[in-house]
Amino acid sequence: MNIFVTGGAGFIGSNFIFYMLKQHPDYRIVCLDKLTYAGNLSTLKPVMDNKNFRFVKLDICDREGVFALFEEEHPDIVVNFAAESHVDRSIEDPGVFLQTNIFGTATLMDACRKYGIKRYHQVSTDEVYGDLPLDKPELFFTEETPLHTSSPYSASKAAADLLVMAYYRTYGLPVTISRCSNNYGPYHFPEKLIPLMIANCLNDKALPVYGEGINVRDWLYVEDHCSAIDLIIHKGKVGEVYNVGGHNEMRNIDIVKLICKELDKPESLITHVTDRKGHDMRYAIDPTKIHDELGWLPKTKFADGIKKTIQWYLDNRDWWEEIVSGDYRNYYEKMYGKR
Ligand code: NAD
Ligand code: TYD
Repeated sequence: MNIFVTGGAGFIGSNFIFYMLKQHPDYRIVCLDKLTYAGNLSTLKPVMDNKNFRFVKLDICDREGVFALFEEEHPDIVVNFAAESHVDRSIEDPGVFLQTNIFGTATLMDACRKYGIKRYHQVSTDEVYGDLPLDKPELFFTEETPLHTSSPYSASKAAADLLVMAYYRTYGLPVTISRCSNNYGPYHFPEKLIPLMIANCLNDKALPVYGEGINVRDWLYVEDHCSAIDLIIHKGKVGEVYNVGGHNEMRNIDIVKLICKELDKPESLITHVTDRKGHDMRYAIDPTKIHDELGWLPKTKFADGIKKTIQWYLDNRDWWEEIVSGDYRNYYEKMYGKR
């Protein structure tokens, strides 16, 4: 089996590559990644010498490059993680989100049509469903929930999902889609809530909580997301969407307080800053379908996963310190300087 993993130098893609090489040591994995600010080749160092692994620096919007690689490698499965993934950046500059997330998805699927594929899997997000109100905890996103996006990021991901389903219906491309809740774990880029708060805590910097911090996210340990995708690409039904989440809802402020407690830092570091524009209130996945049809269940409880994650950031300071000392400083100043 030859699997193309796009965006494999990013957070979830790299974890997926490690997971797959462990679970299926006989599979070949080819990682395609443009190495944007979010891609980090050093993350893939542990597998660079694996004879079943190949890294190719490539933009998924580069039609010629993508087609040439398909011609050379003839992948059986494509798992598309490559995306611009940060909501705040999409609010500042939507253009590149449309380019990579929509046009890049279409380019990959065009190559799949031309060269033939056993499966094209699109890694999507629960954010395509929009948000749920805080005062109705009985509501969850199911696969039938209408798409109702809030940010340029989620709109671009929803557009990609619609294209994927259109390629299934129109061309019979064998596709599946997973829509996952917020991931956390090792190699998470420190612009996102959990790694940003851990890094700032460790540097005794202010912890910028948007608004009151009462927004709710449904957190899933990244390895559990990887196991769900592994199941879907092997056993999932073509043309289907699978929601992935672990019933683990937390308010942002509670997560930040927990990180302070684990790192023995004062809560006085918490600073409430101007809220995100169009900020989604609550995400909550109903994972019944993937549980009933494929037998998937998350393994890691949040209490354990967050400890493991914090320990990883303590043990791998070089990885994130290099990031936060580079271009990231300009990003941070722009996003948080006058907030
Ligand atoms: P990330 O930002 O950490 O990594 C994205 C990777 O894609 C980077 O390595 C980057 O270099 C690469 N990339 C970006 N543009 C590219 C292009 N044009 N061509 C090739 N590579 C390109 O993102 P992530 O958090 O790992 O998310 C991966 C996927 O999972 C995304 O599609 C995202 O929408 C989805 N997702 C993420 C979460 C989450 O909590 N992080 C939750 C649900 C779904
Ligand atoms: P984020 O990690 O950006 O994921 P998403 O917006 O895709 O869910 O943010 C998670 C939550 O944390 C979201 O409600 C916004 C909030 N947040 C902060 O309060 N402060 C921050 O500095 C960041 C990055 C996020």
